[in-house]
Amino acid sequence: MEFDLDQTDALLSTTRAVRKRLDLEKDVPMKVIAECLELAVQAPTGSNAQGWRWMVVTDADKRSALADIYRRGAGDYFTQRTDSIEPGSQTGRVIDSATYLAENLQHVPVHVIPLIIGKPDGTNFQGAGLYGSIVPAMWSFQLALRSRGLGSCLTTLHLRLEEEAAALLGIPDHLTQAGLIPVAYTKGTDFKPAVRGPISDIAYHDTYKNPLN
Ligand SMILES: Cc1cc2nc3c(=O)[nH]c(=O)nc-3n(C[C@H](O)[C@H](O)[C@H](O)COP(=O)(O)O)c2cc1C
Repeated sequence: MEFDLDQTDALLSTTRAVRKRLDLEKDVPMKVIAECLELAVQAPTGSNAQGWRWMVVTDADKRSALADIYRRGAGDYFTQRTDSIEPGSQTGRVIDSATYLAENLQHVPVHVIPLIIGKPDGTNFQGAGLYGSIVPAMWSFQLALRSRGLGSCLTTLHLRLEEEAAALLGIPDHLTQAGLIPVAYTKGTDFKPAVRGPISDIAYHDTYKNPLN
């Protein structure tokens, strides 16, 4: 199979964290979410265990409650960071956008909480296996959304109060929440690749002394 590299590279390089450009007015059909989840579960999992579960929330009261948990989970994260950041810098723009999302999360039409069977035990081996068995699927889900005109943003701030979200949604104790992904159609679809430094600064060839050129 020959891929259209212009298309696939554009998808991979322009799937961004979308917050201010989420269309809060437009309904998202559940069929689209299900279609994107079908693609997401093509992702790899440790031992092919496929221990993923997906909590899709559209109920307005539950979204409001999740947004409240999210804001309380964030605590002083935004204010603390704003104090130490230059306005207009890339980090400043992210904080501004993240603050907008925190204030408007209840209006985002779909919240998706990816779940994985198991609990982190504090070892790198087990942690890599646990989160490594859900994060690739989460990203595939976000890519599938983007290719259909929807946007999303991986968030983790509500996880400080994960148990409250579990109680709200009836999530059993043996599952770990891996984040909360707000989903909506985007206002426009023209997203740009991010600026990144050269690969030779971050990749090595055979030894850590040798940059990959
Ligand atoms: C592990 C992880 C946790 C994140 N948590 C949050 C979060 O709680 N809230 C939020 O608004 N964005 C969150 N983000 C989104 C990042 O801020 C975003 O991916 C980053 O700024 C890059 O933005 P870009 O994809 O538009 O280049 C998280 C991203 C990752 C990978």
